[in-house]
Amino acid sequence: MDKILILDFGSQYTQLIGRRVRELGVYSEIIPGDSSISEAALKDAVGIILSGSPFSAYDTQAPAPDSSLYDSRLPILGICYGIQRMTLDSGGAVERLPEREYGRRAVRLRAAGAENPLFAGVEGRFVSWMSHGDSILKPGEGWSVIAESEGGIPAALVHEGGKRWGVQFHPEVSHCEFGQRILGNFVMGICKARQGWSMEAYLEQEAALIRSKIGSQPALLLISGGVDSTVAGAFLLKTLDPAQVYLLYIDTGLMRKAESDEVMANLSSLGARHLHKVDAEAVFLAALKGQEDPEKKRRIIGDLFISIQEQEVERLGIPKAFLVQGTLYTDLIESGKGVGKKAQVIKSHHNVRSPLVEKKRAEGRVIEPLDRLYKDEVRALGRLLGLPEAIVGRHPFPGPGLGVRILGELSKEKCDILREADAVYISELRARGLYDKIWQAFCVLLPIRSVGVAGDERKYGYVAALRAVKSTDGMTADVYPFDPEDLIAISSAITNKVPAVGRVVYDISSKPPATIEWE
Ligand code: XMP
Repeated sequence: MDKILILDFGSQYTQLIGRRVRELGVYSEIIPGDSSISEAALKDAVGIILSGSPFSAYDTQAPAPDSSLYDSRLPILGICYGIQRMTLDSGGAVERLPEREYGRRAVRLRAAGAENPLFAGVEGRFVSWMSHGDSILKPGEGWSVIAESEGGIPAALVHEGGKRWGVQFHPEVSHCEFGQRILGNFVMGICKARQGWSMEAYLEQEAALIRSKIGSQPALLLISGGVDSTVAGAFLLKTLDPAQVYLLYIDTGLMRKAESDEVMANLSSLGARHLHKVDAEAVFLAALKGQEDPEKKRRIIGDLFISIQEQEVERLGIPKAFLVQGTLYTDLIESGKGVGKKAQVIKSHHNVRSPLVEKKRAEGRVIEPLDRLYKDEVRALGRLLGLPEAIVGRHPFPGPGLGVRILGELSKEKCDILREADAVYISELRARGLYDKIWQAFCVLLPIRSVGVAGDERKYGYVAALRAVKSTDGMTADVYPFDPEDLIAISSAITNKVPAVGRVVYDISSKPPATIEWE
């Protein structure tokens, strides 16, 4: 299958470039920007994209591509830092701008730009998305400017050899007019990539792979209740003999309302034969007692998960089973493993780095059938496998569950209150037709009480914060712009139906600088 290779220099938008290429029906693969450009890395590649970066190209610490990149005969497109890097590497100059160019900025094509295949079908003036503090002062040897921003700053360049291009703006960001067209011009027009990427093709490929790897041995999948592990479960049950598939669900007591029952019902309807549920609520709550630090809570939850898993695996008599995980491409990237090692590890995702997983990995017994997929692709795969919309359309839910949505110390009482408040919030969103317009919505229980009135009495109630964001993959997120009437009605519904909550607030922070979860 033809692929576009993306060299990641740590930009927050690298993931988005990968996704946009796949939306064009072409497989994309992201590797760290300073990886060796080996034959293996280039296998099936028909073009290369260099991402942006938080570094300046002239920083001594700045990541540099393998010099053999420039010997490649493949077309190369540098985005932001990518073109600045190519400029410096070919004798040009990059300087700091007196003022950052950020947000929507108009770009004007010069005559040579209007004729260039990169801009086929693009208007002579369009609104782009900029995010840079440096700019190209002098193009590298053989390069010329073919578009500029309104401030006269170079916005697109081409190399006379006709194999390299650079854009200062971000065509991958949805706010950039003609962005997808420009990427398509590069990927299909210039690189001539064939569109072989589809969920049908992926399913066929992964099914053949897993059958040849596992044969008739047992496969164990740890079910979290979320979309990813449910899709992984459906995939196993359809691909292997259900008699060899062991599904293990640990009920931590940190799940959403009715979630555990729904998970079990869904998996049995998929034909599961070995479906095991461990009721571990009391164990988790006891271990979390007195713990306030978010990363400590994460670690406790993760470690407990692992020790319970190990006990259960022994008990089920399948210690040699292959371990199957619903890990996504973005999970690997956010944990700084394998790809995008320059991207900072922001939160630890325990399904990726647990000792059980590491041990099984060393034995070559971990299988992650979704690890090249983005969230929306997993949903498409779930639909292809016949899962109902209510499951595949569900908002993402973090591994540590309510453990990171109750700020500070947890208790059963707080879990129950949050479960109720969250259920009211979500059912209000569904009733108002808003659920599917939002990427992720949930309630957070704050570690404070505030005063309120109930009848003639003053009472102290909990404060629930509502979160609702628009996102494509959770890497960046915008606040969902509710109609104020909806927010007010949702707040009343929560305080009426959950008397322990006395006040509701709405979180209006984007990511970055905030994260989606509060802990
Ligand atoms: P943040 O809060 O980092 O979240 O902006 C990005 C996405 O990841 C989910 N998330 C997690 N998922 N284990 C997980 O499996 C975790 O520890 C974890 N922390 C955050 C979060 O719900 C959002 O969708």
